[in-house]
Formats: sequence, C-alpha cells, structure tokens
Amino acid sequence: MTEAKSMLLDQVRAYHAEASSAAEFIPGVTRLPPAGAVLDEDDRVALVEAALDLRIAAGARALRFEREFARTLGRRKAHLANSGSSANLLAVSALTSPVLGDRRLRPGDEVITAAAGFPTTVNPIVQNGLIPVFVDVDLRTYNTTPNRIEAAIGPRTRAIAIAHSLGNPFAVDEIAELAAAHGLFLIEDNCDAVGSRYNGRLTGTRGDLATVSFYPAHHITMGEGGCVLTDDLTLARIVESLRDWGRDCWCEPGEDDRCHKRFGYQLADLPYGYDHKYSFSHVGYNLKATDLQAGLGISQLRKLPAFGEARRRNWRRLRDGLDGVPGLLLPQATPGGDPSWFGFAITVAADAAFGRRELVEFLESRRIGTRLLFAGNLTRHPAYQGRDYRVVGELTNSDIITERTFWIGVHPGLSDEMIDFMAASIREFTGRWDDLPARSAPQTVPR
Ligand SMILES: Cc1ncc(COP(=O)(O)O)c(C=O)c1O
Repeated sequence: MTEAKSMLLDQVRAYHAEASSAAEFIPGVTRLPPAGAVLDEDDRVALVEAALDLRIAAGARALRFEREFARTLGRRKAHLANSGSSANLLAVSALTSPVLGDRRLRPGDEVITAAAGFPTTVNPIVQNGLIPVFVDVDLRTYNTTPNRIEAAIGPRTRAIAIAHSLGNPFAVDEIAELAAAHGLFLIEDNCDAVGSRYNGRLTGTRGDLATVSFYPAHHITMGEGGCVLTDDLTLARIVESLRDWGRDCWCEPGEDDRCHKRFGYQLADLPYGYDHKYSFSHVGYNLKATDLQAGLGISQLRKLPAFGEARRRNWRRLRDGLDGVPGLLLPQATPGGDPSWFGFAITVAADAAFGRRELVEFLESRRIGTRLLFAGNLTRHPAYQGRDYRVVGELTNSDIITERTFWIGVHPGLSDEMIDFMAASIREFTGRWDDLPARSAPQTVPR
C-alpha cells in the first residue's frame, strides 16, 4: 500500500470514530427500525479503499467475494449479482437454458412456490413464461411443508422455488428428497436466511441453486447485491452467461483469451472464428455487481458469525419477553431448524380484542418499526390478477398472514435494552385490552 493511501485510510478511521459516536437510546424517542445494516470502521475503510483503487466495475474484489462466499456456505460456485431479486431471476432463468437439453423448463411448465412471501421469489417464474403453483404455509413457522408440496405435484411440475421465511428454514431435507424423487429442480431462496441451519446443515446448500440478498436489511450487506450459489458446474456456467449479457465466453473482466481459442469457434450461423467475447449462447441480462459492492461484502462477511449470534440472541430474548402474552401467536422455529432470524413475526389471534392495525400503530407511535410479512398472499395483489397460476389447497393461512401478521426487528443493531423495551411495549398494549370482550367476529377475508 502506498504511503498516501495508508494515510488516507487512517483518516477514514478517524472520520469513522467522529461520525459514528453512539447515540443514547431514549425509549419511545429513538427509532428502532425493523431491519438495518450494522457497518463498522472496517466496512467504511473497505468501501473507500475500493473507491481509491478506481475498480468501478466488477473485478478482482468481486471474484474474491465469490470465492470466499462459496467457501463460507460450502458450495462450489457463487455468482455475484446486483440484487437478491436478480439472483432469483438468474436461478429460475438458468433452468430454462437450452444447454440443459431435455431437462430444461419450457413455457407452461409449473413451479411450486409458497403463496405468502416476497414477490421476487415468484416473479421470475412468471417472467419466464412458467406457471406458479401456489401452496399455503403454516402459521408460526411461516413456511410451507413437504405435504403441501407433494399434493401440488402434477404432470407439468418441473421445479420447486421457495424461501426460508424470515430466516426460518423450511424442511429443506425432506423437500430436497421430494424433488429428487420426482425429478424436480429445487431453488432455495436463501435471501433472508444466510447462516440458518436445518438438521445441522446450512440453508442454501441443498437446492440445485440457492440465492442470497445483500440489501441492507439482510444478514450481510453490500448496499445492493445478491448471489446465486450452486454445486453444479453446468448451472454455474449458465448463470454466469445469463448474468453477463448472455455471452458464451467465460473470460473474467479484463481477460481476453482464457479458452485459448477466442477466434476458433464455430457457433450457430456465425462465421467461423467470430470473436468468442461477442458470441451469445443465451438471451441474457447484465445483472453484475461492482467491486465497490464486493469490497464491502468481503468486509461484512467476516462478521457473519457474530451477526448470526446477535440475531439468535435478540430473537430468543424477545420470545422469552413475550411468552404467555394473550392474543398473539408467537413465532416458532421449524422442527430441526436453527434459524439465523431475519425478523420476529407476530400474528394477532382471531379472537383478540384488538386488531393488527391497533397494535402496529401503537408500536410505531413508540418508534418501534414494524413490517408486514412482505406481500402476504401474493395472489391478492393487483400484479397477479389475471395471470396464469394454479392454487393447490386453501390459502387460509396466507390470508391470515395478509390480515393479521407483522414483524419487528431482531437485527444486530438492537441492544438488550431495546429488545426489552419492544417486549414491554407489546405487553403494555395487550394489557390495556385485557378486560375488553374479544372482537365479535374475526376480520373476514373479502372475496
Ligand atoms: C425472500 C426474499 N427473496 C428475495 C428478496 C429480494 O432481494 P433484493 O431486495 O436484494 O432484490 C427479498 C428481499 O427482501 C426477500 O425477502
């Protein structure tokens, strides 16, 4: 490192100390966001160092992050993308690649997915002309189950794409076995669950493909960013091609002739020797992330174990603090799961004297940030009206989630004192309704 750079980075550390003096927590005044990144001095230095190097596109840092992240999760390949949604788009699109021959998914093929969750777990199914088959989820775990998936398998089912909900693993071993028994691909949307385990094994390690998000709300962040992981080298090549404009060439950025036959290919109707760098085997995208993002990601990755511990600790403290509170369904880990929680989900009971709205408004008035369980039942949103999809079974719990579920934070930026204040506020709120009769009728589902 040059002397000038080293001096600049020392200045950055000094600036960090100045800019980030911890503000005192004032209950009811300090905002407690449901999610948020924890960025320290090393993160700031990593970001500035990447900027000083002027590596403004994807380069050495992106490659290093991919290697380190794949190693951390125990998968052969990781491909960085510009968001978790892009990662999902790449994962589903990869299954439609002609390179897969007879195994490829074709328009009209079905992909089983959960009705309640985040839209971009599902959108790439629609975007690829495939048909989502929605199944319901359980309350408390907010995950779907092997039984529901098995019941949904039909003659055109070719894949399963589901998310580990709010960090809580779905029964991935059983679902992977189902997928294998029926010759289906499995995509694990691991965007909210990096570091979670099921039967002792990390989530995101069983699916043919797994995806991750590095948005600030997630377990580690790059600002914006995502990743696709796989052990299958054919799928890895397809993902890379789709991410990088659809090109056939696999040279790294700045490289020119890794295959030693850049001008020696004969592809489709192109003239012999057409530059491999500009030969396209997929109808692709550009979904790459930059070295600036990767620099931050490398620094954040070192903190993943500590972040996971903090999430587990905060969730446990909140769970203990709310035990026995009337009118609330509290969350539960899937049996066999050891979640690195994304959030703490609460469903207001049907017979509670209060509704979700009153409780959420009370918490927000105390500056305790709340979020809904993303879209709730996706089929009820305008975007999916008139679309081709199949529903198997009733979506009763997805509807309950739409109407009565919300979540609050457990991220590493929350202290014990903050968590205790959150639990005490909920207890105070429910206590006020103790003597009131239950609502005469639960909120009904307008149809
Ligand atoms: C389960 C799930 N999948 C995908 C995404 C999309 O990630 P991104 O915001 O990075 O596009 C999210 C976002 O929070 C998510 O919760």
